[in-house]
Amino acid sequence: MRILSFLLSVLLAFAGFSQTNPRERRLLDDGWKFHFGHAGDPSKDFNYGIANLFAKTGRADKTPIEAKFNDREWKNVNLPHDWAVALPFVNVKNNDVLAHGYKPVGGLFPETSIGWYRKKFTVARADSSNRFSIQFDGIFRDAKIWLNGFYVGNNESGYVGETFDVTDYLHYDRENLLVLRVDATQYEGWFYEGAGIYRHVWLNKYHNTHIRENGVFVHAKHEGSNALVTVETELVNKALTPADVSVQVYITDRNGREMARSAAFPVALGILGTEKVEQNIPVNTPRLWSIEDPYLYRAIAVVKQEGKVIDSIKQRFGIRTVTIDANKGLFLNGKQVKLKGTNNHHDHAGIGTALPDAMHYYRIRRLKEMGSNAYRTSHNAPNPELLDACDSLGMLVMDEHRLLNSSPEYTSQLERLIRRDRNHPSVFMWSIGNEEGYVQTNSFGRRIGQSLLMLQQKLDPTRTSTYAADLANFRRGINEIIPVRGFNYRDSAVAAYHRDNPGQPIVGTEMGSTVTTRGIYKVDTVNAYVPDQDITSPWWASTAEEWWTLAAVNDYWMGGFIWTGFDYRGEPTPYEWPNINSHFGVMDVCGFPKNIYYYYKSWWSDEDVVHISPHWNWKGREGEPIEVWVNSNAEQVELFLNGKSFGKKDMPRNRHLKWMVPYKAGKLEAIGWRKGKKNKAVVETTSAPDKLVLQSEFTMLDQGENNTAVVNIHVIDAKGRTVPDVNELVTFTLSGPGKIIGVGNGDPSSHEPDQYSEGEVWKRKLFNGKCQVIVQVEKGVGKITLEAKSAGIKAGMISFEVK
Ligand code: GAL
Repeated sequence: MRILSFLLSVLLAFAGFSQTNPRERRLLDDGWKFHFGHAGDPSKDFNYGIANLFAKTGRADKTPIEAKFNDREWKNVNLPHDWAVALPFVNVKNNDVLAHGYKPVGGLFPETSIGWYRKKFTVARADSSNRFSIQFDGIFRDAKIWLNGFYVGNNESGYVGETFDVTDYLHYDRENLLVLRVDATQYEGWFYEGAGIYRHVWLNKYHNTHIRENGVFVHAKHEGSNALVTVETELVNKALTPADVSVQVYITDRNGREMARSAAFPVALGILGTEKVEQNIPVNTPRLWSIEDPYLYRAIAVVKQEGKVIDSIKQRFGIRTVTIDANKGLFLNGKQVKLKGTNNHHDHAGIGTALPDAMHYYRIRRLKEMGSNAYRTSHNAPNPELLDACDSLGMLVMDEHRLLNSSPEYTSQLERLIRRDRNHPSVFMWSIGNEEGYVQTNSFGRRIGQSLLMLQQKLDPTRTSTYAADLANFRRGINEIIPVRGFNYRDSAVAAYHRDNPGQPIVGTEMGSTVTTRGIYKVDTVNAYVPDQDITSPWWASTAEEWWTLAAVNDYWMGGFIWTGFDYRGEPTPYEWPNINSHFGVMDVCGFPKNIYYYYKSWWSDEDVVHISPHWNWKGREGEPIEVWVNSNAEQVELFLNGKSFGKKDMPRNRHLKWMVPYKAGKLEAIGWRKGKKNKAVVETTSAPDKLVLQSEFTMLDQGENNTAVVNIHVIDAKGRTVPDVNELVTFTLSGPGKIIGVGNGDPSSHEPDQYSEGEVWKRKLFNGKCQVIVQVEKGVGKITLEAKSAGIKAGMISFEVK
């Protein structure tokens, strides 16, 4: 295999593959300057609104857009950057402020809702014959962009990125200045949305005659032991003369070994001419992409002119077939798959919406461990790296468009979303909208839906769409034309809807919405906590057991997506202040499981699960009956306290078991029998906290995608048992080539800072025994050591090797 891949690289190099192809992308994440502007006062907004910026091209005097502006006092930041997460919580009575997690961002807060960014970079004169673009993967929101004083454009969406050709405005061998004014005074959602340049920025370089932005579309059909891979390559000629070129496509396995290639196809491009080339390449006995084996091939589209390679793009793709049947649900590669999905927003503890790449993998691994196989990107375009993680780890994705609107701005957003994401094998369906209460049942909804569906079909005929409707059993408006009927809640109406509309497949786009607080076992209206069991759901929602018992056994349910996998900032429900984040997650904002996680894991994963809740530290409640839940997929479970049996019970499928046990300190044990095998769970009364324990999935880091580590912290007693009910303050010190970028603990009512400035001590309280620190590599190699200390508890430590 090695030899073959070497041969291919020699062959491609011989063909001039790497030498002459100018295509390159450079990350522009480091070394930005940041300052707040002002939404209501031009004098505090660096003259924006006073300076006449759009009268003449190429100059913007007396503003940060001009090169000589002095930004020495501005803050140094690296991307991804979310300025909202570092702001304090404010108890302002306003529904949008509440929904956004009580951060001072939005129209009511003019002084913290405009962000100015400046970034300097250079480009070598030797490259001046090429074209350049700057690509923004996501900015919240309404960004105005200038390069060297020239207005480049506006990226209005807070979620879909945009790429701008900047060839005409670059300096060579001299400093270039990129300036953004980001305006987060308007919201796009009803949940925490962050603020600022929270995804990557890239500088792209390529030949004048090139493959256009997101201009390679790879899709495959397979039947029996053969696959036909179709590669569509869109070319554009931005040279001053017509260009005769050819396009050839290579398919390689994931190790770079050539599997097949197309013939070279000649294309004549006029000035500013565009052409699409479609090539079909058979691949024999393909290894299919699946949830269990997410195998990824590469398609390399090579453009040549006069025998020299002038452009090439390597695109990961998977060979898989998705089919949908109204009675039998979803099939992946011919195998029926029940969607065991989660909805998620994209913020995380400590860092808000500014997730380093590794965080997406962290989160998707947590969901996979629970047995989840699908993810809905509610309610907006996801990070590109989230989809990479889903492709690599095997997680199906429902990719969602932000707003049901067919105006040019929103059709452009849908087009950018589809063109960017259609090569991901994980994406199995589009969602064109969510709960548009003003239009979903009328002809506006139907007509707008129709327009968006036409666009989706044109850009990606290999997939279909749904729309997430909070509607019961009737079919008017958008649901008359939507190919797959999405149900948000109203699970008890699904059977009747299927009976009345037997030809329309059904998916649970939002299910459950149980609210739970990790490690809490009573209703606490002062701290705004709800019990950590599957018992509390708002009026529109249902418990996990209510919806899953329906979806699990009826094939016409394609499955569903619970609201939500992780808690997220904003949407405090059922409380308001002091509650600043949601309770909907089966995991908290850090990704620490709540008890309901084990309900889903029992019925979603193939692993043996036996899980007891609550903990067994109830000093002072001796003799009082305590409700003990066991979540398990065993056929029978027996519960013991200090060796005494409380009886063996049959486990009803897709449900849980309960015992009332008079409290006595000691050992609670559950034994489950599954397929003749015995599995055990133990919960013990612990003694006092003795030591902090720091854990991370990986201890090797690098400067690239693996530059971030999540450190999870818990406390053990002298016997090594995890103490579930400590809430002490922990302080952190870090040495070596790294830094802490955020801390969290999953407490939905914590107003502690998630981030600290340079020179301050990083700290966080434990919440029911746990907290989290996110560590990132800074330039350099060596060893990073993180130490955690808490009064009266032995310190803990973890080290990372940085390559
Ligand atoms: C839905 C909505 C979600 C979230 C959820 C909470 O109606 O689509 O964004 O608000 O309710 O249960």
